[in-house]
Amino acid sequence: MRKLLITGGAGFIGNHVVRLFVNQYPDYSIFNLDALTYAGNLENLKDIEQASNYHFIKGDITNEAFIDRLFGEHQFDGVIHLAAESHVDRSISDPLAFVKTNILGTVNLLNSARKHWSNNYDGKLFYHISTDEVYGSLGDSGFFKETTSYDPQSPYSASKASSDHFVRAYANTYKLPVVISNCSNNYGPNQFPEKLLPLCIHNIRNNKPLPIYGKGDNIRDWLYVIDHARAIDKIFHHGKREETYNIGGFNEWKNLDIVELLCDIMDKKLGRQVGQSRTLITFVKDRAGHDKRYAIDASKIKEELGWEPSLQFEEGLEKTVDWYLNNQKWLDHVTSGDYQNYYQKQYQG
Ligand code: NAD
Ligand code: DAU
Repeated sequence: MRKLLITGGAGFIGNHVVRLFVNQYPDYSIFNLDALTYAGNLENLKDIEQASNYHFIKGDITNEAFIDRLFGEHQFDGVIHLAAESHVDRSISDPLAFVKTNILGTVNLLNSARKHWSNNYDGKLFYHISTDEVYGSLGDSGFFKETTSYDPQSPYSASKASSDHFVRAYANTYKLPVVISNCSNNYGPNQFPEKLLPLCIHNIRNNKPLPIYGKGDNIRDWLYVIDHARAIDKIFHHGKREETYNIGGFNEWKNLDIVELLCDIMDKKLGRQVGQSRTLITFVKDRAGHDKRYAIDASKIKEELGWEPSLQFEEGLEKTVDWYLNNQKWLDHVTSGDYQNYYQKQYQG
């Protein structure tokens, strides 16, 4: 029996990782630790919450004494660390929240892993989930490789870069067994509608403006979330210790193009006239310090671990739209309450 701690398992990517591990590894005990911030939602895990190898723990990774007790009590063999503040716009209005969770929270986990594993690192692994944003912003050409120098540009990416540095420093200084992956933009079911695609799906459905920052010519490299979860599984089981793996979709899109495609898909599904939803597109003030382009060179994980995306983008986007249209209750639930205040401040403030 392996005891595995997954942090942030009630969030967007986390719930897909938890589900994959709970279903694929019945002989593991999976502990999902999540503070249930605005971004964490146990409704995401309804289908597996009764599984005998799944356990939920509500708690905050910034609480040092609590994390230490948890490691002492459960003697985890592995950690997959996803818990984070993850939205760039929120990091611009409240950077300190990102320092606390993303840096202090990560260091707390590293300290407890180090303390409780110190007698024996055999079979142990601290797997830190990071982002391509730590590499900064690309011009018209080139790709982020594992060897690209860090150049974070937003408070969010600076906090993630810092946490990555701490993870590597613990490997170097204390020989903690670690692995890191840096992934591009994820899309798919259960993403909180503050992020571009679910926000636009929600607004198209409700005939509300689709806010496009600047000219809409920033480029992101999109990957279906379940393909990210598959990559995490590969790296957790077969990745080399102390290595970094970039994960990406080989799938670059300008923001405006992706939103137009989404409008066209939704026009069909909602029985609207061709082009109707595109009229909702509204250009708004650009994000401060907006990174121009992200693009991942994912050849290392493909060649060394045999991973590649399983879905074509249009297929993934259709599946995503279907999920949101079939899960209106979920969307209504997460957009009630605090979401309205956030939306007001971000887009109408
Ligand atoms: P998310 O915001 O949807 O979920 C984050 C989860 O962490 C939530 O369940 C939240 O409740 C939990 N959490 C936040 N603060 C916590 C704390 N102090 N203690 C315990 N739990 C806490 O984020 P996501 O999009 O699922 O991203 C997960 C991870 O993947 C993050 O580390 C992020 O940096 C990284 N990542 C995200 C993407 C992406 O496109 N979304 C891409 C690459 C990497
Ligand atoms: O690249 C990986 C990163 O992708 C992750 O590390 C982050 O956690 C995740 O949030 C995501 O960051 P982005 O800033 O790229 O994602 P977001 O969905 O916020 O924005 C995608 C693009 O769309 C970006 O260029 C900004 C733009 N945008 C976003 C919003 C919310 C708009 O034009 N309008 C919007 O309303």
